[in-house]
Amino acid sequence: MKKKPIDKKGKESKEKAREFAKFAPGFESQDKEVQYEDLEIKGDIPEWLEGAFIRTGPALYELEKQNYNHWFDGQAMLHKFAFNNGKVSYHNKFLESDAYKLGKINGKVCIKEFATDPCQTLFQKVKSFFVPPRSTDNGNISIITYGDENLATSETPLPIAFDKETLETLGHFEFSDDLKGHIQPAHPHYDDEGYVYSYLLKFGPVSKYSLFKMKPDDRERKVFAEMKTRNPSYMHSIGMSKNYIIVTEFPETINPMELAFLNKPLIKNYHWKPELGTKYRIFSKASGELVTMEGDAVFGFHHVNAYEEDQKIHVDFVAFKDASVLDRLYLAELRSNHPTHATGYLSRATLDLNQPNQKVELKRLSDKLIELPRIYYEKYNSKPYRYVYGAGNTVSGNFLDDITKIDVETGDSKKWYHEHCYPGEPIFIPSPDNEAEDDGVVVSVVLDTDAKNTFLLVLDAASMEELGRAIVPEVLPFGYHGSYLN
Ligand SMILES: [Fe+2]
Repeated sequence: MKKKPIDKKGKESKEKAREFAKFAPGFESQDKEVQYEDLEIKGDIPEWLEGAFIRTGPALYELEKQNYNHWFDGQAMLHKFAFNNGKVSYHNKFLESDAYKLGKINGKVCIKEFATDPCQTLFQKVKSFFVPPRSTDNGNISIITYGDENLATSETPLPIAFDKETLETLGHFEFSDDLKGHIQPAHPHYDDEGYVYSYLLKFGPVSKYSLFKMKPDDRERKVFAEMKTRNPSYMHSIGMSKNYIIVTEFPETINPMELAFLNKPLIKNYHWKPELGTKYRIFSKASGELVTMEGDAVFGFHHVNAYEEDQKIHVDFVAFKDASVLDRLYLAELRSNHPTHATGYLSRATLDLNQPNQKVELKRLSDKLIELPRIYYEKYNSKPYRYVYGAGNTVSGNFLDDITKIDVETGDSKKWYHEHCYPGEPIFIPSPDNEAEDDGVVVSVVLDTDAKNTFLLVLDAASMEELGRAIVPEVLPFGYHGSYLN
């Protein structure tokens, strides 16, 4: 029997009247590799758009003998929308990761994913006490660049290069250093000099974060700061201002000994410990010096921007009251008729370096719910800025059902919303003669569950009015992140 949503007072929620299963087709597998040269266009696609918008996301949730459990586990597919004089083509291709290839060959999960483990015999379980499991290379989270290399990333240090023309998999990006670790966030930062910033986390009885910078041509991750801990946090991104890297340690923590001995999927080893609060680790890029400030327990996936003002650092991220969103993203839950709340509030932590012992207060910048936030990164990252674009939520419990633009200064928001339409992460693309911060377009891939198709939507970024759409006659699964590669 299906469970009915229950509210805090134990009554059936008003939300039960809605058909939340409407967005469920976005969580089904799409195992067809397809190519469409000339998509049907409604409205106008600006002719100045050139190059391609490439996204990654989970697309395969079932193998012959075993299924994946969680939205984060699906095997990665690359999706490419190419622009040519107002016309748009689409094709997709599976990322040929080791996780994908071994899964297809053996018909079952062979490499541990976020919430799905390989089926193991007793002998294999005993063996895994002594031989650490392989990290997944399932690059289903983000599309990034290291210099000229286009990469699909997971949350491990195994990014995979692909050909941006054909989407063919080229192989793992080989770092030239000998750093070893288990977690490397899918979202690095880039400075104006071309350095990539991120961290590598190595699990152990005492775990270690190694913060690094890298010139992509050298392929060498140069460690400029280290921090040891017994209970690392689940973190999906970091903040970067002009002079600092901000590692926001949310109190969703893991004891790596549990990971080694309890033999459970990775996420089952993380636990919400609000008594720890949130620790804002502020690392100097120049010296590696660390200052820690503390605030109330909060959770988040995505930092949005960070910038300095006098001796203060403003760190903006999408905040959730706790980490329960991780449980709401199991496939069984997403495919049910239950409401799904997957958005948070754009929030600002202001870190006053003159008063490091002062408690950090979190300020909500807007009352509009949002996730998958993007800014005009190339021009405004680490600088004062005004606009954030994200997939938002209009109908409570209806997953991601609008595209939202928030004015950080005023808290005002604009949105694009159509019933039955479920947008993915919006990307801002500046117009060729861009002057104003929002002079350009926003593109997003939208699932229309009524029409049973998916379209690339182009909005005017200033007004958030629709300019045009290019329709793919397929139901494409929901993904996470992409990049405009021009
Ligand atoms: Fe992300």
